[in-house]
Amino acid sequence: MNTREQWGSRLGFVLAAAGSAVGLGNIWKFPYMTGQNGGGAFLIIYLALVFTIGLSVMLAEFAVGRAAQRNPIGAFAVLKGKLWPIVGFLAVLAAFLILSFYSVVAGWTIAYIVKMASGALVGGADELGAAFGNFISDPVQPIIYHALFMGLTIAVVLGGVHDGIERACKVLMPLLFILLLVLIGRAVTLPGAEKGLEFFLMPDFSKVTAETFNGALSQAFFSLSIGMGAMITYGSYLNKKENLGKSAMWVTSLDSGVAVLAGLLILPAVFAFGFDPAAGPGLTFITLPAVFAQMPGGTFFGVLFFALLTIAALTSAVSLLQPIVSYFSDEKGWNPKIAAVVAGVVIFTLGIPSSLSLGVWSDFHIIGEKGFLDSMDYVASNILLPVGGILITIFVGWIMADKMKEEVTNNGEKSFPFLGAWLFICRFVAPVAVAWILVSGL
Ligand code: PFF
Repeated sequence: MNTREQWGSRLGFVLAAAGSAVGLGNIWKFPYMTGQNGGGAFLIIYLALVFTIGLSVMLAEFAVGRAAQRNPIGAFAVLKGKLWPIVGFLAVLAAFLILSFYSVVAGWTIAYIVKMASGALVGGADELGAAFGNFISDPVQPIIYHALFMGLTIAVVLGGVHDGIERACKVLMPLLFILLLVLIGRAVTLPGAEKGLEFFLMPDFSKVTAETFNGALSQAFFSLSIGMGAMITYGSYLNKKENLGKSAMWVTSLDSGVAVLAGLLILPAVFAFGFDPAAGPGLTFITLPAVFAQMPGGTFFGVLFFALLTIAALTSAVSLLQPIVSYFSDEKGWNPKIAAVVAGVVIFTLGIPSSLSLGVWSDFHIIGEKGFLDSMDYVASNILLPVGGILITIFVGWIMADKMKEEVTNNGEKSFPFLGAWLFICRFVAPVAVAWILVSGL
């Protein structure tokens, strides 16, 4: 086996893991889900789930990765063997599927930087909705942007864990925070923004249903990048001195911090211009450009916004490619650079039908009425990810509890005040709650 790379510092690791977590899930998905699910009430439920189940699963993944110093498949093989490597296999499969469509949507964010800058995005929500529909259904353009985004992802991963991923995240994550704060400064000073703030921060529990919990829990998994081996992989490049509990706490806090900030950016702007916060997935690509079109300095802030989204998506995409690369280099002895290019090209190819499924191939259904992109998302997010989450917590809580206790306390050298609570969540709460998402999602 090759000597394994390591993160250069705790800060570098935390920023890389936060880079994985903070992505389209926070800035595109979280605000529209909040808009559809009663604002402040959704926010409270989401945060409660993130800091109990989410944080525990993240710590479980860090512990498995660091204990094994391997990719997800190899990690289960060295720690326990038997059928357990199948869990790692499901994780790597999920990474393949998710990255294939994630890159398509991330490609749109690059296209929207260009469209914003060239002044192509003018008009109200109807015209911008039609423009968005025309763009994503085009058979060529979105695929070019998908290729461009995949190329950027491969380029970062080619640099390696330390010089590629860590260095990129150390520059891009602070930049992302600055852009976000500049944009929030603009949004909350718009006349009428208070209504958006009120909607976001004042809970209305009358809108809460079982589906709200379900949506909040699957969003928590996707947003924290858990259940699919990304955090096992990142944990595997950690040295034995790092405090895993503290790192998990930092990453979880940064991820939910950015989700809250994205809500503070998008909802006040949407309310200030009288748009519908429940517009759904179109909120980012239709409603927001309509907001920018009416706002003083809108072109400038619009370009910044889509640049922010691209950066967030890039640092997440690299964490989907790296588990695959580390599998082929740890287990199959491939050169990591060759693995990155080959996996990247295969994933790009798998993304093509996803992109076409929004246009020329829209009549072609895979699962029920779902087209290719929605089917990939469904299999990965609604099946592989919860199954991965359940199995990882069972593994940590029941199968390897003693070894995992040693791992998070660095063999008893570091005290971890929440050890009991963490194990309780891994044993009982997480498997049951996640099994419930799985079943109710089917
Ligand atoms: N957490 C990322 C987001 O919120 O956009 C998406 C993601 C990245 C999911 C990496 C899973 C993963 F392994």
